[in-house]
Amino acid sequence: MTDDLVSPFAGDEELDAEASVRPRRLADFIAQHRVRDQLELLLKGAMGRGTPPDHILLSGPPGLGKTTLANIVSAELGTGIRTTSGPVIERSGDLAAILTGLAEGDVLFIDEIHRIAKPAEELLYSAMEDFRVDVIVGKGPGATAIPLDVEPFTLVGATTRAGLLSGPMRDRFGFVAHLDFYSPADLDALLHRSARILGVPITPEGAAEIAGRSRGTPRIANRLLRRVRDYAEVRGNGIVDEATAKAALTVYDVDQLGLDRLDRAVLRALIESFRGGPVGLSTLAVAVGEQSDTVEEMCEPFLVRAGLLARTPRGRVATDAGWRHLGKKPPEGRGALPNQPDLFARDAETSP
Ligand SMILES: Nc1ncnc2c1ncn2[C@@H]1O[C@H](COP(=O)(O)OP(=O)(O)OP(=O)(O)O)[C@@H](O)[C@H]1O
Ligand SMILES: [Mg+2]
Repeated sequence: MTDDLVSPFAGDEELDAEASVRPRRLADFIAQHRVRDQLELLLKGAMGRGTPPDHILLSGPPGLGKTTLANIVSAELGTGIRTTSGPVIERSGDLAAILTGLAEGDVLFIDEIHRIAKPAEELLYSAMEDFRVDVIVGKGPGATAIPLDVEPFTLVGATTRAGLLSGPMRDRFGFVAHLDFYSPADLDALLHRSARILGVPITPEGAAEIAGRSRGTPRIANRLLRRVRDYAEVRGNGIVDEATAKAALTVYDVDQLGLDRLDRAVLRALIESFRGGPVGLSTLAVAVGEQSDTVEEMCEPFLVRAGLLARTPRGRVATDAGWRHLGKKPPEGRGALPNQPDLFARDAETSP
């Protein structure tokens, strides 16, 4: 996933910095205590029995740690990891080659697993369940199926859209973890850890300022930290404190709640062009010149979570808080809006 903020800067140095702060072991993975606890039991149980653990599905918005966790699973198990992603697996033959190349106990990580092509998905079913695949050779009436064994492995699937997974696919995962947005306190701890690794001096107020504007997302917190560090080194005394963080984040167009340009564009379009809605997702996406997917996966989860936007059966609606966030007075005489953001987020996620 990309983000407006990173594109002009995404050189090797950025990637190195991102890799260096990525936690390698479960003990370094900040927050998400429930998921961590459950994973630890799953992994330790399997290791005790000497068998690969059940297949694992990780779902949640971008940047919350799915790829990180997949790598942690293989590190904790001490096995190899093979990484691929749904959109790259176009033909079932591609997947068969990957599967038959796995060593015993390996982790196969399939990112964006909801985007895997149907024939490959069906091949995956038998591999997940029986550790075998039927490779079809030839076409038409002369085609034959050659059964091949697959070493016992653990599939780790990641998805930003769990609702788009087919039932049979989801049922084959023995463990499903939904990652949730991080609290400011969690992000605060994360920022202190990252600053220590990057060798950036940071004050508690500086960390709190960045944490509060990171949209509950570790990737964004780390990225903002790097931007504030630049600012501190170029225009300040090298220390990330509250004043530096505030000034830097103003330069980078990140507002008080952490909304970036695209988030605000979505909210503004909803309010200014559609009088607060309701309006359909695709209409809203066209209004801001973006793909529906981008708006739905990158902006909406946090706008909903922040209580600025609601998903209703009739379309997207700006809440009173949404109007106020843009400095506008909410229209009077509207009925009460649904006020259960998380519930609606999950609702929308499970409907195609
Ligand atoms: N719990 C955590 N503790 C510390 N750092 C974290 C944690 N979760 C994520 N990060 C950091 O955030 C960055 C983004 O995480 P990651 O790449 O795993 O997200 P993702 O869920 O795979 O996102 P996407 O859906 O975009 O692929 C990582 O580089 C890592 O440094
Ligand atoms: Mg990822």
